[in-house]
Amino acid sequence: MRGAMSVTELFKSENTADEIELQFDASGRLKHLLTLRGLDRSLITELLDRSEKFLSPMGQPVVRSTALQGRTVANLFFEPSTRTRASFDLAARRMGADVLNLDVKTSARKKGESILDTLYTLQAMQVDIFVIRDASAGVPAYIARLVGPHASILNAGESDVSHPTQGLLDLLTIRRHKGDFGELVVAIVGDIAHSRVARSAAEGLKTMGVGELRLISPEALAPDPDAFPSARIMHNLDDGIRGADVVMALRIQRERIGSLDGIPGIDEYYKNFGVSSARMQNAAPDAIVMHPGPMNRGIEIESSLADSSQSVITEQVTNGVAVRMALLATVAKTLGSQ
Ligand code: CP
Repeated sequence: MRGAMSVTELFKSENTADEIELQFDASGRLKHLLTLRGLDRSLITELLDRSEKFLSPMGQPVVRSTALQGRTVANLFFEPSTRTRASFDLAARRMGADVLNLDVKTSARKKGESILDTLYTLQAMQVDIFVIRDASAGVPAYIARLVGPHASILNAGESDVSHPTQGLLDLLTIRRHKGDFGELVVAIVGDIAHSRVARSAAEGLKTMGVGELRLISPEALAPDPDAFPSARIMHNLDDGIRGADVVMALRIQRERIGSLDGIPGIDEYYKNFGVSSARMQNAAPDAIVMHPGPMNRGIEIESSLADSSQSVITEQVTNGVAVRMALLATVAKTLGSQ
């Protein structure tokens, strides 16, 4: 079977049941992170608790650990990234790992080498943990099935399907501000249809027992309701924000949209779906504003709101490093007990 399947055969819109199982070793320990589906509440809580230990106040020395000493982490980003790639890099270094950031533009993939051969090449150099972002659905699981038993695959963004570490950092950020999830109303606003961030957030929030999840978008950017069975799908921003404890704005994923037909122009979009201070008057008085980044100020979010005291956007970034440290420590422990 080695290399027999083509990546292009793997297109799909959600992580499958066997991908969920593939994440765990024979003893039920987390070995790969492909999706938040299949991670139960106690495992997510454990990861969030572990993440808290890697946070330190701004301006103080960062927390370091030796949990990854002797390990090598390779960042393979076949799509652009600032936050996810930089935070995996910092997280791995702060835990004592050797880190390889493959420059895709100058790698042998430009000469036609397959992603699998790239992986096998790096595996031969004793890379233990592969962090993978790819525009095609199914790639992280495809690699996880074919990689050696001593390696771990971490999904750093998979098409519009899954972005599990973003989901974890969003959960950590919400928990640090709001505590228990059970009473919370969370509103996610924007291009839900093409958002892996919304999917992973929804999966994590559902597992953590969120009170209510609202997904607000223009009709043309609405999700398949089957992909979000426990969410309210809405098209009016004022209704969607009303009473919300958490409001998360998302950018329009133009790189995943074939035709812009039916999608409002920028001015109309901002008027109807831009999250602004005026609109936040309808939210709960202590509501927080989130955005996974990269932001398009003045389109999905008012610039001054993004920089306001209601915004936790930079905290999300800080929490992202801690979450990735916790995840790396978790899978390194699993690899160490193989
Ligand atoms: N949130 C997120 O995935 O950002 P990057 O694309 O910069 O990694």
